Amino acid sequence: MPGIVVIGTQWGDEGKGKATDQLGDSVDYTVRYSGGNNAGHTLVVNGEKYALHLLPSGILNPGIPVIGNGVVVDLEVLFSEIDALNARGIDTSRLILSANAHIIAPYHKTLDKVTERFLGKRKIGTTGRGVGPAYADKINRVGLRIQDLLDEQLLRDKVAASLIQKNQLLVKVYNQMAVDADEVADHLLSFADRVRPMVRDVARELNDALEAGKLVVFEGAQAHHLDVDHGTYPYVTSSNPIAAGACTGSGVGPNRLDRIVGIAKAYTTRVGEGPFPTELLDADGDRLRHDGGEFGTTTGRPRRCGWFDPLVVEAACTYNGVTDVFLTKLDILTGWEKIPVCVAYEVDGERVEHYPVMMDDIVKAKPVYEYLDGWSEDISGCRTFDELPATCQAYVKRLEELIRCRISGIGVGPGREQAVMIHDLI
Ligand code: GDP
Ligand code: IMO
Ligand code: MG
Repeated sequence: MPGIVVIGTQWGDEGKGKATDQLGDSVDYTVRYSGGNNAGHTLVVNGEKYALHLLPSGILNPGIPVIGNGVVVDLEVLFSEIDALNARGIDTSRLILSANAHIIAPYHKTLDKVTERFLGKRKIGTTGRGVGPAYADKINRVGLRIQDLLDEQLLRDKVAASLIQKNQLLVKVYNQMAVDADEVADHLLSFADRVRPMVRDVARELNDALEAGKLVVFEGAQAHHLDVDHGTYPYVTSSNPIAAGACTGSGVGPNRLDRIVGIAKAYTTRVGEGPFPTELLDADGDRLRHDGGEFGTTTGRPRRCGWFDPLVVEAACTYNGVTDVFLTKLDILTGWEKIPVCVAYEVDGERVEHYPVMMDDIVKAKPVYEYLDGWSEDISGCRTFDELPATCQAYVKRLEELIRCRISGIGVGPGREQAVMIHDLI
């Protein structure tokens, strides 16, 4: 069982970091393969809280943490995260970084912010971390790669070339100051000495490890419904967080992925703009937000909250070949007399039982609810399925039916040990 992918099945913040961390000490490599520091993965280990944005959650375990080629790297964030962990006594020296990963330059952050401002009402609600513009440059073939940092003149030339067009845009369209290419290059090169020892042919190293039977976990960021191809476009991120992204984002073949673990929150949240059929704009939504502490790890924005939407999760399970679902934050639902679960949408008066492909239908979808019995017992200390109250078990079983995928683990609290395992993931 050497290759395991962990992905989000909703709109992010499902608890991917915690689920990855929970796979534990036997993991040899933990690989981030997509996104950048738009992600925020919170782990609670021995009562200590860690908020990781760019580093893989495996940084807290003895294995090797890896940043794959599919990630966009803000060097300033990378080293401030490393320094903060070092200050807390965490050893980060095993971290390796793909020579092919792209760099988020300061002008990408500027462009992210001004583009959003320019879009006005049509804004995406990005995290403002420069992720979209960095991926745009990658696709436009004017991006900067980690390996470019190791050749000063090459980096200077690439920054200057990339800025010719951007400065026109910044000055003439967005009314901003032009960016000085040398200043940017100096800033990026100031990290070169720290980057150099981490740079590897990550694809080669991971393939060798898999060949030797090592356990490699690919830690997804964002989620299926934020995927640029499969999500609620244009309200998505600019990469492929889906399971297949683990292959392009790290350089391993699809036949290396033995298990796909889909993380699903026991209710639904979303940050930023875009459709969200089961969103609650009332006191129930406020209660979920309050009970679940649903405020962004990255931007601190209040997360939009709503009931569990099996159509959303079923689509993610199907399109990613999810083998096991890890259902998180079930403890947060304690105390509701009835818990609504969406079983279908009504779109233009018609009942729809699959997540629609047409954006217009998703926008218009009205959830049709079934009301399941709640429970009042504190479940945070439960460690086996049988210990959960009967109505809580019934909630899990009904979700399993609706998403058409087995639920193999359940989160009952933020702590590393707070989980109910039904089927082993390794
Ligand atoms: P990620 O981006 O998918 O890694 O998720 P986030 O870290 O952004 O958000 C999940 C939040 O829920 C974090 O604060 C976790 O500590 C917390 N969390 C994860 N699993 C559970 C759980 O089962 N119960 C509770 N109460 N909190 C959890
Ligand atoms: P984790 O890994 C939740 C959302 C943003 C915005 C959209 C595009 O913690 O689950 P971007 O900055 O990527 O261009 O923003 O995607 N978004 C996330 N929402 N969790 C995340 O990561 C997210 N990463 C990006 O809020 O709607
Ligand atoms: Mg998050």
